Amino acid sequence: MIVNAARMLREARAGHYAVGQFNINNLEWTKAILLTAEEQKSPVILGVSEGAAKYMGGFKVVAAMVRALDECLGITVPVALHLDHGSYDGVKKCIEAGFSSVMFDGSSLPFEENIAKTKELVNLAHDKGLSIEAEVGAIGGTEDGITADGEVADPEECAKIVALGVDFLAAGIGNIHGLYPADWSGLKIDALKKIQEATGGIPLVLHGGTGIPDEQIKDAIANGMAKINVNTDCQLVFAAATQEYCLAGKASPTADNASKGYDPRKLLKPGFEAIKAKTKEKMELFGSVGKAC
Ligand code: 13P
Repeated sequence: MIVNAARMLREARAGHYAVGQFNINNLEWTKAILLTAEEQKSPVILGVSEGAAKYMGGFKVVAAMVRALDECLGITVPVALHLDHGSYDGVKKCIEAGFSSVMFDGSSLPFEENIAKTKELVNLAHDKGLSIEAEVGAIGGTEDGITADGEVADPEECAKIVALGVDFLAAGIGNIHGLYPADWSGLKIDALKKIQEATGGIPLVLHGGTGIPDEQIKDAIANGMAKINVNTDCQLVFAAATQEYCLAGKASPTADNASKGYDPRKLLKPGFEAIKAKTKEKMELFGSVGKAC
């Protein structure tokens, strides 16, 4: 069931758990995450970066694929199709293409410009029934070629952007996209407490969900993080499972070609199963299992 993400995240915030945003890259990814959400009776958010959407053929292709899979697989749990780190133009295109939720990432803009553009896009998204996420202060690491330091958001700026009517807010607390360096000092939970106080109970979003120790994830959820974004973790397990399959010689032609291990339906299966297992593990950690009953 494709829905916008506002209600599922308000419920998560009130129930002290988080809903996972799992980024998708292709059909196998999408199917694996949808089926796992259904099996675990968990709400879920499918995140799509502009780069991943381009790779898949465009926003319309993604929306059509996700909506058709949701219907044909008989998915009953709430699923949001969400633009991740959207540009001003990207948000407008996704609203037209059939997404149910968008993120406008104006964090690299001067704050006043971020406010003005977010305000305009909040109205546009809400008019069409979509939920919208905003961001202040850069979140660290590299995503789609953009690198930033692990910044900590300013609570006053957070409060100003929340006042525009955004549904949930990405607030940096030292988190970083991709793998964390060995000397990373951890999430700044004290900063999160101040942001939470300043923003009055709005669901907060933790980007860079890969590689954060479980105890810190739980601490972040206890202090208002209601959406946690995961991308690299699924890529790592998919790559490892596919590599193992290939290195075992299973993708190579055999003398009689009886096993046909090079058939993409066989070749991609270990990676597909690995994404399912990782998604289930994260849903259990975030506490969202059984919340869609
Ligand atoms: P990771 O790739 O670190 O899991 O982060 C994903 C993310 O935050 C997407 O916005």
